[in-house]
Amino acid sequence: TSLTDFAFGLPKAELHLHLEGTLEPELKFDLAARNGIELAEKTVDAVKATYDFTDLTSFLAVYYPAMNVLQTADDFHDLAWAYLLRAKEQGVVHVEMFFDPQAHTSRGVPFGNVIGGYRRAAVRAESELGISAELILCFLRDFSAEHAMTTLMEALPYKAWIIGVGLDSDERDNPPGKFADVFARAKAEGFFLTMHCDIDQVGSVDNIRAVIEEIGVDRIDHGTNIVEDPALVALAKERGLGFTTCPVSNSFVTEQMKADEIVGLLREGLRVTVNSDDPAYFGAYVGENYVALAEQAGLSQTDLVQLAINSFEASWLTPARRAAFV
Ligand code: HPA
Ligand code: ZN
Repeated sequence: TSLTDFAFGLPKAELHLHLEGTLEPELKFDLAARNGIELAEKTVDAVKATYDFTDLTSFLAVYYPAMNVLQTADDFHDLAWAYLLRAKEQGVVHVEMFFDPQAHTSRGVPFGNVIGGYRRAAVRAESELGISAELILCFLRDFSAEHAMTTLMEALPYKAWIIGVGLDSDERDNPPGKFADVFARAKAEGFFLTMHCDIDQVGSVDNIRAVIEEIGVDRIDHGTNIVEDPALVALAKERGLGFTTCPVSNSFVTEQMKADEIVGLLREGLRVTVNSDDPAYFGAYVGENYVALAEQAGLSQTDLVQLAINSFEASWLTPARRAAFV
């Protein structure tokens, strides 16, 4: 349809994308064969049959074990490169990609393999695809604050390759304040800051308030439960905070896209963006997320253009580089 063509053709930035969430079953089989790993599921359909998520926890229970096939720098390169090729087809011209180093270092994979492979793909994207690609180091919030700090120290030699830090994984009993010291140190090192405030978590709006007021994030991932507190919405608007929403992901972990919340915030003039989160698992890359939201909420082409403009304005591009896009 023309809506699909329009949505895919729009030049856009993707700001909420977990590289480990781009692992398609076909590549998983290739990497398993390369590394001599036996997989329980033998066919693409059998793998996809395990994608039966009812909430964040059941998604994460599938997401982490799949990463065992990622071992060498080449593996991480190939994963990111496959994503970047898909992103190109979806109109992505700039991307800030999350990666979860602790999910790899905790099973014995050197930090250097992870970032070395991902960085090689990012550099190649610039020269071969015309996509500018940056990396955001995400801490796992269900690991300790000490483990996060150790990971931040491991990352410092690679500082030039990392634009910011984020926080993901299981939010329950892992509020933002647990990582206040880690994020203060990251900020002092010059990193941009973002944190996940996942959809409909216990105490969601309190966590959103904490990331804004205590942590001082530059952006919020998901975060649409902010609609429960109009004063906080006003503050986020005044600060021009970006929100990286993920409609199709929402429909997997909560059974709805949360289109009313996303579009409501967009209409109020907040810097709302649309992203894919874990596209291999949720079956939709960023262009497909624009289409899904547009169809659900009856968005116009003008609305889609606004979402694309927001994606650059909420990005961490320097003003000079941003000016090349908007
Ligand atoms: N939320 C929390 N952890 C995650 C997500 C998410 O959306 N995607 C990958 N890890
Ligand atoms: Zn996410």
